[in-house]
Amino acid sequence: MNRRGFLRGAGALTVLTVGGGVFYARERGVFRVGEGAAYEPWQSWNQDAAHGPLALVRAGILACSPHNTQPWLFRVSDQQIELYADLTRTLGAMDPYRRELHLGLGCALENMVLAGQAHGYACVVDLVPGRLSAEVIPDASGPVRVATLHLQPGPATASDLHDAIPHRHTNRGPYDPTRSVGAAALTQLRTLATADTPGQVHLLTTDEAKIAFSRHTLAATQTIISDAAMSAASHRWFRLTSRASDTHRDGVTLEGAGLSPLTLRLAKLLPGLSSEKSDAIWLRNTREQQLPTAAAFGLLTVPDRYDAQQALQAGRLWQRLHLRATTLGLALQPLNQLVEVADRDQQLGRPAQADQHLASLLPAGAGQVTFGFRLGYPQRPAVAVPRRSLAQVLLRPVPATG
Ligand SMILES: Cc1cc2nc3c(=O)[nH]c(=O)nc-3n(C[C@H](O)[C@H](O)[C@H](O)COP(=O)(O)O)c2cc1C
Repeated sequence: MNRRGFLRGAGALTVLTVGGGVFYARERGVFRVGEGAAYEPWQSWNQDAAHGPLALVRAGILACSPHNTQPWLFRVSDQQIELYADLTRTLGAMDPYRRELHLGLGCALENMVLAGQAHGYACVVDLVPGRLSAEVIPDASGPVRVATLHLQPGPATASDLHDAIPHRHTNRGPYDPTRSVGAAALTQLRTLATADTPGQVHLLTTDEAKIAFSRHTLAATQTIISDAAMSAASHRWFRLTSRASDTHRDGVTLEGAGLSPLTLRLAKLLPGLSSEKSDAIWLRNTREQQLPTAAAFGLLTVPDRYDAQQALQAGRLWQRLHLRATTLGLALQPLNQLVEVADRDQQLGRPAQADQHLASLLPAGAGQVTFGFRLGYPQRPAVAVPRRSLAQVLLRPVPATG
């Protein structure tokens, strides 16, 4: 929000308060942050410990997902949990290959495996192989299975990563620009990728690399907002009033935008933001708040960005990294503009310029970038954003045969 918009908002607040507008403000959820049924999954996530596999699903739905689309469905039995992609919950032109959708499903898998370990299951994860393509799949084609967790009895092993699940939130606010991240914490993040998974973590900590990442990310943000189809696809998932976020229980909310408490209240009072205005705010926040206050940036690479299993594994790695960062008191925010433009270049047959920019940030042979992010120490805590209920994401069990 610019100064003029802010003053207009402040004026509106005064008028509303004097003119009985407190009622209106309440209606718009101005004084409400993180309350109501849409936030209940953050409270009840660990209450099914005695009720078998559902405890794993409750942890799964708290995972990160692109634009909070929560593109998951689960079919649960005592022996296994099948994870399905809900292809009605895609990001369209922002994610034409459904690569980010697969990353989000991988995030849910990681939370489920951690919950399984905590609740006495040894999970064997079976990923469905496949190639990600930009083919349009009709909504009516139904959910597609991407993975199965086979549940076997195992020792119940508590872990700090499992305990961090309800505390992990994407932080889009300013980070402390005076505080760098120590070598020990950076090493913990860098070494999260294990030898048996294809994903790698690369951290950009030098001024030169940070400036290059910032410059390219800003240009990619500009490309996205100049692309009407990408902008519309993104805006479709914005939930800018309390009523919208309470009803849908998904998407990008004002609370999650990293605004200061006062600006947040004013933004809630203003009439709905057009996609042009919210794009302009996004560009300004990226340029003035998110890029310059980051202590470092990071990139996740895989050998093949369009391999379905590798996308799921990269999602698992991101979720684990965010949970580890949470235990270290660090704030994280995905910044995927460059990879999103690389997908779009590929889909439209344009020169692979975003890909060249990504490659220029890494040593030769590092693989293909599938995820970008920033990190630092937070100036403000991040907040929980809505989740759909367990009932909304469970598929009916497979009918018994015979
Ligand atoms: C594949 C993927 C890409 C994402 N890209 C971005 C991004 O570019 N910018 C951003 O602010 N958040 C991004 N996010 C974060 C989601 O918007 C966030 O996880 C979602 O809104 C739910 O919020 P939570 O992480 O606080 O639970 C991404 C998440 C995933 C899984």
